[in-house]
Amino acid sequence: MTRILFGRAFLLAWVGPAALLASVAACGPSSAVARGEMLFDACAPCHGDEGAGNQLLGAPALAGADPWYVKSQLEGFQADRRGYHYTDEGGLRMRPMSRVLGDEADIDAVVAYVASLPMADPLATGLGDAEAGEEEYAVLCAACHGDDGRGMQSLNAPSLLHLSDWYVASSLQKYRDQVRGATAGDVAGATMRAPVAAFSDAQIGDVAAYVTSLPRLPRKQVIAGAAPPPLPPVDVDPAALPEGVTVEMAQAGQEIFHGEGICYTCHMRGGTGGPLAPDLTDGVWLHSDGAYSSIASIVETGVPQPLEHPGMMLPRAGTALTDEQVRSVAAYVFALSR
Ligand code: HEC
Ligand code: HEC
Ligand code: HEC
Repeated sequence: MTRILFGRAFLLAWVGPAALLASVAACGPSSAVARGEMLFDACAPCHGDEGAGNQLLGAPALAGADPWYVKSQLEGFQADRRGYHYTDEGGLRMRPMSRVLGDEADIDAVVAYVASLPMADPLATGLGDAEAGEEEYAVLCAACHGDDGRGMQSLNAPSLLHLSDWYVASSLQKYRDQVRGATAGDVAGATMRAPVAAFSDAQIGDVAAYVTSLPRLPRKQVIAGAAPPPLPPVDVDPAALPEGVTVEMAQAGQEIFHGEGICYTCHMRGGTGGPLAPDLTDGVWLHSDGAYSSIASIVETGVPQPLEHPGMMLPRAGTALTDEQVRSVAAYVFALSR
């Protein structure tokens, strides 16, 4: 007891009240923020004191970014998944900076500090036609980033609301040109390549202009988006199902298709197809003979080289579906096409 008291008094006299506060809260989130603020000294020269970004240096705003996303990108830079391409000036500038953060605790601390910064208004530098971009956004982006641009963590899709148009545009160009999202193991980055694979620079400018025009409500304010109508239960004649496949499996597969399997983000709800992936209900097959086993094997291996759609389908859609879930979701697709 006396030793602790002595220690405190000693600390107080020696390094002052701030350090005492930090040591008292040593395990709490506020100490992470304080440590993060110190670490951020290494980031501020490019990202700005308030994390609002700097166009001249190509450094995006960090304030307002989802904490889980900031962490995933810092890990990506450290693991050379991002900033690997010789033409990626910004990424090459950033990648060595990520090494300033020695371990996961450093990353968590800087992420906590960034999360404490208020979002600045993003810049609209007048890149394109926001109205034209709105249409592209609704069809090609909203399924993952939300109608409101806030993103969906379950899909690894970040909020876009804090980003200036010049950075949105440069990111989209990088995904399109495989300067970002093309290394082995970058599942989230690969997902983002498909939507922009066929974009012209003009389309990129339009969609970036639209993203920057989205209303920016305070992050805490939750907008209750209208939930889509529930899907009808799977309706298939059990006699039409191959051996070992049940209606229950197909029903479970419907959940997976519209949930953790993320199939709906490209094949749309009910598998009716869209700009990123084909209709699975029409009995027309590009890669399969329509047999259950061939559907299951496509889900397992994905489609690295699509015939009629941009981008690609990753093995198991890039998700961690188990073998059983693959069989169920294949049963659902099989039932859809009957
Ligand atoms: C020398 C300038 C520089 C410094 C210093 C720097 N960055 Fe960066 N950072 C960049 C650039 C440029 C990019 C954009 C890379 C791109 O275009 O893909 C970037 C991107 C990022 C991203 C990705 C943001 C997104 O929306 O995807 C994060 C996160 C990040 N930096 C965090 C940090 C942190 C934390 C530090 C301090 C430890 C730091 N940066 C220091 C220049 C810098
Ligand atoms: C299938 C889901 C999906 C669709 C559709 C999609 N995105 Fe993404 N997007 C992602 C994911 C996942 C990431 C994170 C990728 C990474 O970690 O590099 C991402 C990242 C981004 C980024 C980088 C953000 C940053 O801070 O660097 C931008 C910008 C972006 N998306 C814009 C768009 C636009 C615009 C569209 C439509 C043209 C679109 N996305 C369509 C899933 C999607
Ligand atoms: C990132 C977008 C994307 C996601 C997510 C996705 N797919 Fe696909 N899917 C595609 C593309 C692209 C093709 C090939 C289309 C082509 O060749 O033009 C394809 C093809 C298929 C095929 C073969 C269709 C045929 O005509 O032969 C099946 C079956 C399929 N997907 C099922 C699924 C299931 C089940 C999931 C979820 C576990 C899923 N897909 C997730 C993009 C996607």
